[in-house]
Amino acid sequence: MSQITSQREKVVQEVMSHVKKITANFESQEPELHELRQIRDLVLTLADHPELFPDEHFPGPVGSEIETLYEISVESDLSNALYIYRPAPGKVSPVHDHATWAVVVGLEGEENNLVWKRMGDSSQPGQCKLAVERLVTVGPNQGVYYRSSDIHSISVPCDKPIKHLHLYGRCLLNLPERCDFDPVSGTYTKQKSVPRVQQPRA
Ligand SMILES: [Fe+2]
Repeated sequence: MSQITSQREKVVQEVMSHVKKITANFESQEPELHELRQIRDLVLTLADHPELFPDEHFPGPVGSEIETLYEISVESDLSNALYIYRPAPGKVSPVHDHATWAVVVGLEGEENNLVWKRMGDSSQPGQCKLAVERLVTVGPNQGVYYRSSDIHSISVPCDKPIKHLHLYGRCLLNLPERCDFDPVSGTYTKQKSVPRVQQPRA
């Protein structure tokens, strides 16, 4: 194991042990906003060490790939799942929810997060009118957090793959139903695709 890998594992383990103390207090899967802020601030301390997440260990997408995603840490019960996410330049995501809480912290490059709000009655299955609430740009040493039901979309305005830390309440391969939203038609559908999760190269 390289020195960088062992140092990364030590720092990640330390941060995730603090995250675990916060999430252990969750009476349900849904944390309070002040708890999400605390978790964001913990993940921000990882962004103080970009040298622990080098390109050689976490290569960005090449060719026709639109993203790469690397698992860094996940609990045995599949909670508190930390990843390195590297979307390709120009990537634009569907408007989506995560069906779990999420924290995004920037390491390299900028990601535009468009946050959407529900408008009017959304009790009809498959129907949900949306309007843009705000734009949040997440660059290095900046973070944003979302509750399970929050809806957002991202775009990558940079000219090379960015590198961000993503922490979710549950492992991305074991999520309850996520949805993609169409703000034009005011409809949503269950998300069928499952991301390809890789292990760091070292
Ligand atoms: Fe997202």
